[in-house]
Amino acid sequence: MDKEAGKRLAAEQAATHVERGMTLGLGTGSTAKYFVEIMGARIKEGWTLRGIPTSEETSRQARAVGIELITPDETTIIDLAVDGADEADPQLNLIKGGGGALLREKIIASAARKFIVIADKSKRVVTLGAFPLPVEIDPFAWALTVKRLREVLFEQGYESPKLDLRAAEGAPIFSDGGNLIIDCALERIESPALLDKSLAGIPGVVETGLFCNIADLIIYGDADGVSIEPG
Ligand code: A5P
Repeated sequence: MDKEAGKRLAAEQAATHVERGMTLGLGTGSTAKYFVEIMGARIKEGWTLRGIPTSEETSRQARAVGIELITPDETTIIDLAVDGADEADPQLNLIKGGGGALLREKIIASAARKFIVIADKSKRVVTLGAFPLPVEIDPFAWALTVKRLREVLFEQGYESPKLDLRAAEGAPIFSDGGNLIIDCALERIESPALLDKSLAGIPGVVETGLFCNIADLIIYGDADGVSIEPG
């Protein structure tokens, strides 16, 4: 079974948590896409659902499949958010932001009554960090922010990590919110919550891709079906 089948299985399992009338936080990425697709099918069956997309990309897909979209300012209640992850550990800590939507994803996931992560099993790791940690920063004085980022990482035990400004064809990539993303190759993140707090304290850092104490459930899909953590 390929990864795509695992992603779809996880999305189908997450869909069993959806009830008619819910307001859903809709994640971003190739796994979240399956969930959005399934929600589109529910709408066609006559369900009422509302979605809050975490990116322009998801917004386009959700509209195309017929999901009614609202802005986060139109409600204070998000019943359920469902999103993918780049890495997840057994304590339900995540690295997210490979698709550049980390800020909006974190706002929506944190605000939701329940946050379910869906992923193919290859995303499960014992220790986070092999996937470079995305850090979203304000473009103003960005080089100074990166300098400070380096200093704080040094204080946290990372001697000379490779930090890359996310770019394509020589031009920086901007997030939907107009920010830059620095990908930090840290290899191992022993204390994700502590690192998140230290990085978030740097002026100019808008958000980090470390999601700690936010996920309620992780659904992994692979050839054996789905496995759910906590079990
Ligand atoms: C988007 O910014 C990310 O946080 C994605 O949720 C994450 O990169 C997982 O994406 P895939 O489902 O495409 O692997």
